Amino acid sequence: MNSILENRRFRKLEEGETIKSFNCGDTELNDFILKNADNYKKTLLSVSYVLEENDKVIAYFSLSNDNLSADIFESKTDFNRKMRKRFVNEKRKRHFPAMKIGRFAVEINQENKGIGTGLIDIIKYALIDNPQSGCRFITVDAYNDAIPFYTKNGFVMVNSFQKDRRTQPMFFDLAQLL
Ligand SMILES: CC(C)(COP(=O)(O)OP(=O)(O)OC[C@H]1O[C@@H](n2cnc3c(N)ncnc32)[C@H](O)[C@@H]1OP(=O)(O)O)[C@@H](O)C(=O)NCCC(=O)NCCS
Repeated sequence: MNSILENRRFRKLEEGETIKSFNCGDTELNDFILKNADNYKKTLLSVSYVLEENDKVIAYFSLSNDNLSADIFESKTDFNRKMRKRFVNEKRKRHFPAMKIGRFAVEINQENKGIGTGLIDIIKYALIDNPQSGCRFITVDAYNDAIPFYTKNGFVMVNSFQKDRRTQPMFFDLAQLL
């Protein structure tokens, strides 16, 4: 069992539920789980999952279907170079199925205890062990500050660092777990 689950509950957020308190230090991510996650679920835009300890949410993430498309790479050549080694017979494909981490946050006083990494592992292995559709990559628009966290978890940057952006697109190739 994933060790972050010991004495904790991991579950999908149900429709109509309200989360009463959550603070990861980022207002936008706090507001999402406190105010917007339910509406995103109702309108089929994303599904959120929470990790609870003593009935309090200590981390959450939300997921949506996505694709890793050639369009977001710096150039077609760059896309082909990065994909060539992964796909032998799919040279002309310009989109690959993916799952997007839309939001991802850990309560501020619970950071650096491996909870984020444990949740990333839950996402990775759910997609590998119980696939509901073809999904080759996990994608995320990583906050610049969180890039070391995603890198540590095997994600790579789509492009070189763009310093005028608050987030950078990154991806993880699920095939490396097969
Ligand atoms: C980023 C975040 C999800 C990581 O969760 P976590 O439970 O603290 O992560 P883990 O304990 O599994 O891993 C921590 C590792 O990531 C690195 N890390 C996490 N946040 C970091 C940051 N802001 N800057 C630099 N490194 C960071 C740590 O250095 C640590 O590495 P180490 O184990 O080598 O010391 C969490 O810090 C968080 O919620 N941050 C605020 C919201 C946010 O940025 N969300 C991501 C949106 S894309």
